[in-house]
Amino acid sequence: MDLFEYQARDLFESHNIPVLAGAVATTADEAEKAASVMGGRVVVKAQVKIGGRGKAGGVKLAQDAADAREKAAAILGMDIKGHTVHKVMIAQAAPIAEEYYASILLDRANRNFLVMASVAGGMEIEEVAKTQPEKLARVGIDPNVGVTLDKAKEIAKLGQFPADVQDQVADVLVKLWAAFVAEDATLMEINPLVKTEDGRVVALDGKVTLDDNAEFRHANHADLVDHAAANPLEAKAKELNLNYVKLDGEVGIIGNGAGLVMSTLDVVAYAGEKYGVKPANFLDIGGGASAEVMANGLSIILGDADVRSVFVNVFGGITACDAVANGIVSALSILGDKATKPIVVRLDGNNVLEGRRILNEAAHPLVQQLDTMDGAAAKAAELAAK
Ligand SMILES: Nc1ncnc2c1ncn2[C@@H]1O[C@H](COP(=O)(O)OP(=O)(O)OP(=O)(O)O)[C@@H](O)[C@H]1O
Ligand SMILES: [Mg+2]
Repeated sequence: MDLFEYQARDLFESHNIPVLAGAVATTADEAEKAASVMGGRVVVKAQVKIGGRGKAGGVKLAQDAADAREKAAAILGMDIKGHTVHKVMIAQAAPIAEEYYASILLDRANRNFLVMASVAGGMEIEEVAKTQPEKLARVGIDPNVGVTLDKAKEIAKLGQFPADVQDQVADVLVKLWAAFVAEDATLMEINPLVKTEDGRVVALDGKVTLDDNAEFRHANHADLVDHAAANPLEAKAKELNLNYVKLDGEVGIIGNGAGLVMSTLDVVAYAGEKYGVKPANFLDIGGGASAEVMANGLSIILGDADVRSVFVNVFGGITACDAVANGIVSALSILGDKATKPIVVRLDGNNVLEGRRILNEAAHPLVQQLDTMDGAAAKAAELAAK
């Protein structure tokens, strides 16, 4: 899960990383109020989960509360690279002397953690890596040791930070590591980390990605979820414990096992080429496809207005085809009138003959069976094109 900047700010604050006052607002009114509480000059910042907000006009300095109101009104509703701005952060304006960079990330390629720090911040770090690589420290971190104060000081030196801020930067790196571990993050980036005119080092912008696999350890992370942005079908599927991903095509897909579903997507994409149709979703109902799971899966897919046909592709293993066929039959009776789209079923594997017999006998008007995966994919694509 990626966090908004204001959430990253709050998280940093809770781990004693130096930040400035900040408040979130969803209306120009709220922005004005927040700015007047803060007093003085503030920066109005678009809260979108995409980089380059500044360049897109989403970060603006305001002289006072009235100005903050005006700037917020202009930024709220803005489109930044396809992301609509629903919230702004009102941040206390810092008198900036210098802009630096600091981050910690999970380095998958090296099976390690990586700390990056540079005296050249404020711009994109890729740019620094390309044009001034000598100013970018990249230091692998042994997770069993972490970022000790000595290690942090070494990094600050390597990143060519001036002597007068090295200790403060090292302190930020140690705290950033502590926060990274405590929150189970895969990325924590501060860009810019600034030196103010009075010599303090402060985080002015934060990007944080939390590891969803560690969700169970952090009950409080649930509060950080942006429900407004979640696809409603994906949200419903998550509630039902289904592995569902919405895609932008027309052929609904249900299968058992992620591998089979992935290859079903490929086969349908290929078969759909000549009709101009594509898979509408990924849905893996896993092993043990009970009638309930099948009904839940079908109801999600049939609830997708883009879906024009459904392809159920099941290879019976531990779950036998007759159980799946019974699941489909009861799912359709549970759904009743809500099932409105043609369903192509391909069963194979354990107890396939009995499975096919059950479906034939039920003779549901929406269901047709094909014996092969390719044949069924072609049929589902053809039906979606009709
Ligand atoms: N609180 C602040 N006070 C003064 N200047 C600020 C403040 N916040 C941001 N700025 C200035 O605006 C610039 C851009 O801000 P920020 O880094 O938050 O957004 P961005 O880099 O454009 O967006 P993103 O990080 O999403 O790419 C900063 O480099 C800094 O110069
Ligand atoms: Mg930034």
